[in-house]
Amino acid sequence: MSSETETQPDVAQDGHHGERRDTLTVTDNRTGKQYDVEIDDGTVRSIDFRQIKVSDDDFGLMTYDPAYLNTASCRSAITFLDGEAGVLEYRGYPIEQLAENSSYLEVAYLLVHGDLPTQAELDEWTHQVTIHTFVHENVKSFMQGFRHDAHPMGMLLGSVGALSTFYPDANEIDDPENRYIQTIRLIAKMPTLAAFAFRHSNGQPYVYPDNDLWYPGNFLNMLYKMTELKYEPDPRLERALDILFILHADHEQNCSTSAVRQVGSSRVDPYSAVAAGVGALYGPLHGGANEAVLRMLHRIERKENIPDFVAGVKEGKERLMGFGHRVYKNYDPRARIIKQAADDVFEVTGKNPLLDIALELERIALEDDYFIERKLYPNVDFYSGLIYEALGMPVSMFPVMFAIPRTSGWIAQWLEMVQDKEQKIARPRQIYTGQRGREYVPVGQRG
Ligand code: CMC
Repeated sequence: MSSETETQPDVAQDGHHGERRDTLTVTDNRTGKQYDVEIDDGTVRSIDFRQIKVSDDDFGLMTYDPAYLNTASCRSAITFLDGEAGVLEYRGYPIEQLAENSSYLEVAYLLVHGDLPTQAELDEWTHQVTIHTFVHENVKSFMQGFRHDAHPMGMLLGSVGALSTFYPDANEIDDPENRYIQTIRLIAKMPTLAAFAFRHSNGQPYVYPDNDLWYPGNFLNMLYKMTELKYEPDPRLERALDILFILHADHEQNCSTSAVRQVGSSRVDPYSAVAAGVGALYGPLHGGANEAVLRMLHRIERKENIPDFVAGVKEGKERLMGFGHRVYKNYDPRARIIKQAADDVFEVTGKNPLLDIALELERIALEDDYFIERKLYPNVDFYSGLIYEALGMPVSMFPVMFAIPRTSGWIAQWLEMVQDKEQKIARPRQIYTGQRGREYVPVGQRG
């Protein structure tokens, strides 16, 4: 609530309880009028500024925020992030504790339900996800229709959107049971679609899910099984992959999550909303940075070339990829955990020769004033690409590896959004900068 006022109180009085409320007093220097705007949770409501007008027929004041640098679009109880302190929590649990003790499927349950499951709840959740890993045979057929060199992320984007045609009732999004089954299906089928895309790119036959295996182990099975009767994943690789999945499960209102919420706000089915998230994650500024890190490391080639490379970065010729973050200005807590996971993977696969270059680059950068002054630290992408490469994946699979676990975050955010009474169809305003009232001229008469 806000109001036009003649005085400038520090706080407003709540009519019902007599509580003091924080307010902001704004003076419109065009009219000399003053307005009180409520401050709630350190935030003012943009709509409160619409009462600020120069005349009765004025539309009212808007706020302008390209790229949403300072605009909260929702209230959310899923992921907490403090960039200055390097803190990331899912539903209040620190990422370090979850990576150490939990599994991806348990984390997915936590994100979706809000609390950690009991053993019985976890068993049922795991069972449900496991028995929904298969996709309709027609999904396989249309995936086979992609070109031999189709990008696996493009295949994932198309196929997850197409799932909406296999489950036409998924648009009954006001039915909690229906929402629940689509949630299970999305988390369960994403690795299957991703692995089919991978096998397609390799010209290999698709491998069906093995329901005896754990979520990450089954994914490795669908990626790598060849002629053996039963694929047996290395438990160290399985665990490292599970940790990577935990680290990537959610990251509050990032570009792809906002895309899921925005598209979902039209009340479309969750497969279409998640396809929008995959599309956003496909972009090099979001899901593609780890690929850029690998290209950079390949280009540096030898440790001796690092000083020249760093000098070029400091002269502004290029960026040190995998360093810096829009939100984390201390360190990215995921980067520390991933470094440990990388060591575990290299124990099995043999060390990625690029690791030495990465470690030396990190050491030099962390001691250099340029990076210290700008608060540039390794982010999650500095090491994730090295792991994926060691697992035998081409760079085109990197964003796919991000999309699989982020699906639980997207669907948790989608569930929160569709049940949030304050949300409506997302529809930003614009500041129109084009021409007005032009007279149509027939094509033959145009100069
Ligand atoms: N290498 C060299 N200089 C950098 C870098 C970098 N990686 N990142 C920022 N800077 C400099 C930048 O030039 C600027 O310097 P100055 O003040 O002298 O002009 C200063 O640091 C602030 O940079 P900024 O562009 O205002 O920072 P931002 O918050 O807008 O950008 C970022 C964040 C992640 C886009 C950027 O740090 C970057 O491009 N990093 C490399 C790409 C990368 O690793 N991306 C993955 C991000 S994590 C993935 C995820 O969480 O989804």
